[in-house]
Amino acid sequence: MKTLQRTFTIIKPDAVQKNAIGDIIEQFEKNGFKILAIKMLEITKHQAEQFYAVHASRPFYGSLTDFMSSGPIVVLALEKENAIADLRMLMGATNPAQAEEGTIRKKWATNIEFNAIHGSDAEDTARFELSFFFAGYELSK
Ligand code: CMP
Repeated sequence: MKTLQRTFTIIKPDAVQKNAIGDIIEQFEKNGFKILAIKMLEITKHQAEQFYAVHASRPFYGSLTDFMSSGPIVVLALEKENAIADLRMLMGATNPAQAEEGTIRKKWATNIEFNAIHGSDAEDTARFELSFFFAGYELSK
């Protein structure tokens, strides 16, 4: 039996700046994702550091968290069968130079850092990321 899975995504400040919100959300819907929750907000550098704590030792941690706190973002909870892997396929490779034609990053990302969109990479990270941005009542159906 196929089971529904939830994932989490961020339309990053670069994509918001490029007026790509509508196009990216259209891609989610056209590809079978149900939008369970959505909001636009700004996060602080400290909040970005907490969200990306798993990357704390990476050389790009400082600039990544500067970037993610540099302007509005749109966060969404998505649902679909196989949502985590399917979203990552739709996003394309982290580095847009390696992203497939037709993917969101191929169309909207500037480079490996300003790469338009984030998506959870596994079930445990999806749970953490959904609960970082959404309260229980926002996801209970
Ligand atoms: P994301 O999917 O949000 O997960 C971590 C982010 O770190 C990634 O997208 C990129 O924005 C950024 N990132 C990953 N690798 C690099 C890199 N080599 N240089 C700069 N930024 C990176």
